[in-house]
Amino acid sequence: MQVLIAYHSDYGNTKKMAEAIAAGIRAGRAGVSIDLRTAEETSLQDLLAADMIVFGTPVHMGSMAWQVKQLIDRAAKLWMESALEGKVGGVFATGGGFGGAGGGVEQTMIALHSNFLEHGMLVVGFPKSLPGYADGGLQWGPYGRSGNHEGMPDTVSEAALVAARSYGAHLAEVTTGITT
Ligand SMILES: Cc1cc2nc3c(=O)[nH]c(=O)nc-3n(C[C@H](O)[C@H](O)[C@H](O)COP(=O)(O)O)c2cc1C
Repeated sequence: MQVLIAYHSDYGNTKKMAEAIAAGIRAGRAGVSIDLRTAEETSLQDLLAADMIVFGTPVHMGSMAWQVKQLIDRAAKLWMESALEGKVGGVFATGGGFGGAGGGVEQTMIALHSNFLEHGMLVVGFPKSLPGYADGGLQWGPYGRSGNHEGMPDTVSEAALVAARSYGAHLAEVTTGITT
């Protein structure tokens, strides 16, 4: 099974989540090849080669980072060809999360889901019974809050990384069920 994890990260938090998801996928299934790369480095060929595509982004001003949106827009050509239909999709995000309502993370993740669904992909959410959900879970996928209580940059918690690993294992399990 070929997996592509494409993400953007300026300060390393989203990259940490990406690596934790990769570790979870490896733990969940043997014989997986994982291509972990930035959205800017990701080519259309990388998308085509993958059985499973996972997109991750920091929340930037209430939506995804432009680097991830640019990849999505580059891939519009593949939508014309229905080339990603049937592939498995997963999403994750990090955000400062200042305030009581997540700083725009939900709409960011839903926008990623929406794009995958437009392509006819099979979107995998994050079931609440899985390890880590209580701290780093949203039904859309794992989320790491990286800001502190004063609204200043900090780092994603170990609990959020547990959620990311758990989501990776879930993606592997679901994809195994679909591809075998
Ligand atoms: C330009 C910019 C805009 C941001 N806007 C938001 C926002 O709207 N909501 C939020 O929760 N966090 C926001 N943040 C905080 C980042 O999402 C957060 O620090 C994230 O974990 C950074 O990920 P990274 O370390 O992978 O770059 C913003 C950060 C930057 C640099």
